[in-house]
Parts: sequence; C-alpha cells; structure tokens
Amino acid sequence: MDERIIATEQQNTDDWQYSLRPRRLKEYIGQDKAKENLSIFIKAALSRKEALDHVLLYGPPGLGKTTLSAIIANELGVNFRPTSGPAIERSGDLAAILTNLHPRDVLFIDEIHRLPRVVEEILYSAMEDFTLDIIIGKGSGARSIRLDIAPFTLIGATTKAGSLSPPLRDRFGVISRLEYYSTEALIEIITRAADILKISIEQNGAAEIAKRSRGTPRIANRLLKRIRDFAEVFGSTKITNELADKALQMLEVDKVGLDHTDRRMLDAMINKFGGGPVGLETIAAAISETRETIEDIYEPYLLQLGFILRTPRGRVVTKAGYEHMGVIYPKDEIIETQLFDFEKDEI
Ligand code: ADE
Repeated sequence: MDERIIATEQQNTDDWQYSLRPRRLKEYIGQDKAKENLSIFIKAALSRKEALDHVLLYGPPGLGKTTLSAIIANELGVNFRPTSGPAIERSGDLAAILTNLHPRDVLFIDEIHRLPRVVEEILYSAMEDFTLDIIIGKGSGARSIRLDIAPFTLIGATTKAGSLSPPLRDRFGVISRLEYYSTEALIEIITRAADILKISIEQNGAAEIAKRSRGTPRIANRLLKRIRDFAEVFGSTKITNELADKALQMLEVDKVGLDHTDRRMLDAMINKFGGGPVGLETIAAAISETRETIEDIYEPYLLQLGFILRTPRGRVVTKAGYEHMGVIYPKDEIIETQLFDFEKDEI
C-alpha cells in the first residue's frame, strides 16, 4: 500500500493520535488567535448559562479542528457529539441527532461542506431558533410540524470555507481560520507527544521533525512515531538531529517537508507543462491523483511555501519552486543567454 506521510481526514480515528490530543484549551499549543477569541466566547457563554454561539472552523486538514472542537465542549462542560457531512444522508438522520441533544451540547459536523442540500436546509431553523420543521406523510396528506429542540452549539469544520453555501455560512456567529503551525509551536507539540509516548528526544531532533512536518501537528506526530521505529531498529535510545534527518530521508520527506507526491507534482508541472499555467485536472491526471486530493492536501502547502501560484489560467511553478527542484528557472535562463550574447558582442 502507498504509505503516505500526508494528513488525511481518515487518520483522525487513530487511537494513538487520540491519546495525544490535548483535552483543555491551556494544553492546546498554537493557533493563538483562535484560542484567545474562543476562550472569551466560552467564558461569556458560561457566565450567561447559554449555549455558545455556532462556530465554523476552517483550514487545511490536520491542524486540529476536531481536537479544538472537543476541547470547546470540554471547557463548556457539555457532551461532544461528533459526526460528519457525508454521514448524514437524509433529513431524518439529522432530526434524530438534533432531538437527542442535551441543552448546550456541542454537535460537531466535520466536512460540513459535504452535507446534502436537503439536510442543510433543516439545519437553518435548528441553528437559528432551535426548531425543526419536519414533513410527515406524503402527497396531499403531507403536513409540516414544528418541534422545539434543546439550544445547542453547532461546530462545523471544513477545509473549503468557499464551498459552504452563504445561508449556512451566515448562521455561524464565530468563524475562525486555523493556520499552519510555526516551527516553534510544532517543536512544543512534538516534545509533548514524545513525553506522553515515553520517547527520548533531543531539542534539535524535535526541531528537525518540526521543520519537515508541513506546519501540521498530525504529520509531526506521525513522523515522530515513524522515527521512533527507526531509532529502535538502529539501536538508538534517543532521537537526535542526525537520526531524525536520516530517518526522514528514508521516509522521502525532504528538507522542507515535501513528500514523494509533492515532488512528483512539481516535477510534472515543470517537465511536462513547462512550469504552467496548467489546470488542476491536468496535473491530477498526470500524477494519477484526484483533483480533490491535490486541492485539499498538496496544493495548500505548496502555495504556502510559495513554490506554486494560482493564476486565472491555471497553476504556475515559481522561481522558488524551480530552485527547490534543482531546475534552472526558465526566465533566468533567458536572461543568462542574453547576457552571454551581449558579452560576446563586447568581445
Ligand atoms: N497535538 C496535536 N495538536 C496539538 C496541539 N495543537 N496542541 C497540543 N498537542 C497537540
């Protein structure tokens, strides 16, 4: 099987990941802006004894949207009810969930942009005035009844805030974007995880992993586990910088955290499509990935590093992207050639 180092949503349920998850806001490292705002809103809701306003968390996968949502429920002292957009197929599924909530509970809907439209429409009145409009019966005998439900907090998570319909987006009182983590924050997360997993690690070993984790705690924690395996097999008792570097090279994670697929993508863009502009579908077909995988997982980090750009005509590899791949940037090549011709004239 293609063993990826990237963050995918399915990895959410890994038991060991679960054990590493912080349970309180004060244990949650990074995302300072979101944390600071949320802690104020949580305190205010608690003092008013009201449900917290609905929260939308968005940003690339693996940055801790689920973890943060579970923490919010914990801080509020209420139940955390997790589900996901694709899991709620019919309006009856959502009605069953909503009618079973206790006052002020947190309902967490991951991948909320994938909720079916009919389900989404039920959610509007539920979010706005805690009522459910249900149609009973069919045809001319059908009638609508209105049910009251307990006041609750919906926390929606999405990697694609832009795919959310405006009526749904407008019903969230708090909208928070999770950012890629700084190296410093990741060092703290790795050190904390190593401590929990009883792995001995040097500060510069943690720094090496942090720099190569694409700003993503889920990846940092996975790499830490893998490197521990290398340490055991190489007979090391401690993860040093050298050991981390050697293991990461074997895992094909390069100096800035790009994996095999990122590099295949850059390579195809440079060598098959002259550095772009090239459309997402074309890139996807060239490297046998889906458009969604590229859009959600690979592209955001390459954009963040400034290795690619989005233009109206497609994606383009930047000079930094060429340099990272060890290929001369074509525009520089033109300048060099012109210079060369000019020098010849001088001679
Ligand atoms: N593990 C994964 N994400 C974390 C975070 N943001 N803070 C602490 N530990 C984590």
